[in-house]
Amino acid sequence: MDRTLLTPRLRLEPLGPDHRGPYRALVRDPRVAATLGGIPDEARIDAMLAQQAADWERNGFGWSAWLDRETGEFVGRGGIWRTEVDGRPEVEVGWAVAPQRWGQGLATEAGAAHLRDARDTHALTGIVSFTRPDNLASRRVMEKLGLEYERDFVRKGFPQVLYRQPVTG
Ligand SMILES: CC(C)(COP(=O)(O)OP(=O)(O)OC[C@H]1O[C@@H](n2cnc3c(N)ncnc32)[C@H](O)[C@@H]1OP(=O)(O)O)[C@@H](O)C(=O)NCCC(=O)NCCS
Repeated sequence: MDRTLLTPRLRLEPLGPDHRGPYRALVRDPRVAATLGGIPDEARIDAMLAQQAADWERNGFGWSAWLDRETGEFVGRGGIWRTEVDGRPEVEVGWAVAPQRWGQGLATEAGAAHLRDARDTHALTGIVSFTRPDNLASRRVMEKLGLEYERDFVRKGFPQVLYRQPVTG
């Protein structure tokens, strides 16, 4: 099964060990790490990549590497994955984009493709997304994708805002 998604500007392919170099640069960038729980060490990076490989194997979906279709440049990562919110199983959509490409609509473009894939390929709706209350860029992406604010909650001791895709039809 081909797990690659194409958008007008991006190729979204399962994140794996081949992407470790640019993925490491992305998640260790202080501007990205600031809203993603801090700068991960090498072991944590390996654990995150292994977790994603396991997720793809088990669920048929997980984080993707976002590659510029023209240049092949790694511009971010994101996708859908299984998580829990207050002990309840949820499917979350999320994103991180290399700072030099912020503000170009890439998170919104890729996020929309992942939400379409969730619905059309995996029959998943009611997708959630959450972030720190002060992460206004991520909240704006959630809104542009049609997710609606649901409530505040606390995760691992940190305040979060929870957004959810409305269930229609
Ligand atoms: C959140 C993130 C992925 C957005 O990526 P992006 O490709 O720049 O997003 P888009 O260009 O699709 O949309 C960003 C929107 O946020 C808006 N925005 C950016 N900074 C903002 C701010 N400080 N206040 C309000 N809005 C802001 C932009 O104007 C844009 O909205 P618009 O199209 O209405 O003008 C990127 O900032 C990032 O990687 N942040 C670090 C990692 C992170 O926080 N990930 C999410 C964790 S939950």
